[in-house]
Amino acid sequence: MSSKQFFNEVAGEWDAMRANFYSEGVREKAFDRAGVRAGQLAADLGAGTGFVTEGLLRRGLSVVAVDQSEAMLAKMRTKFAAAADRIDCRKGEAESLPLPDQAVEHVFANMYLHHVDDPSRAIAEMTRILRPGGRLIITDVFEHPFDFLKTEHHDRWLGFRREALEEWLTAAGLHEVAVDDLGEECRVRSEGTGETALMNIFVALGHK
Ligand SMILES: C[S@@+](CC[C@H](N)C(=O)[O-])C[C@H]1O[C@@H](n2cnc3c(N)ncnc32)[C@H](O)[C@@H]1O
Repeated sequence: MSSKQFFNEVAGEWDAMRANFYSEGVREKAFDRAGVRAGQLAADLGAGTGFVTEGLLRRGLSVVAVDQSEAMLAKMRTKFAAAADRIDCRKGEAESLPLPDQAVEHVFANMYLHHVDDPSRAIAEMTRILRPGGRLIITDVFEHPFDFLKTEHHDRWLGFRREALEEWLTAAGLHEVAVDDLGEECRVRSEGTGETALMNIFVALGHK
């Protein structure tokens, strides 16, 4: 099964799954680090059912939400129908985002990078759609040993090292690059072995 098939299958349950994995604190701390303001335009990449999008809409921003999965996008369109004038849901892939150059003031990507084939290329593509002065904010997990996430959740990467993240953001042309522990955890229980993966979440930030 591909990652796209997996996320199409779990779209109906994703909100409940996500609530068991990590809390709203992740997005709220990311928004504070980014310094979001009402009226701004942000992209939410690997948006899923709109965990980050929901928080951005509440803070008064408009959002372009991108995901590879039609089922996730369909769920999001239904959930946020009342805010249809401030959300644009687009199907797209990490390597060729469906946005023009310099389109948005913030790019958020929560728990998305560990699913993409080429993280360095995905970060360069995220940077392309940022306006000068804009901010890239990636939240994901630090490197970990929990191999079952590859088979049970279609993770492509077992998290990331700080040094690799710093290198990729800098190579993309971002400045004031910082990678910090967000002070939040991601907790996933294996259906197969009962083992629980407990992972620290980082925030990687860069300015264009
Ligand atoms: C773990 S979910 C996170 C969803 C959401 N950001 C959240 O925090 O609830 C990862 C999402 O990224 C999407 N995704 C994975 N690989 C992708 C790719 N290469 N291009 C676009 N979307 C992708 C999946 O379809 C899925 O909806």
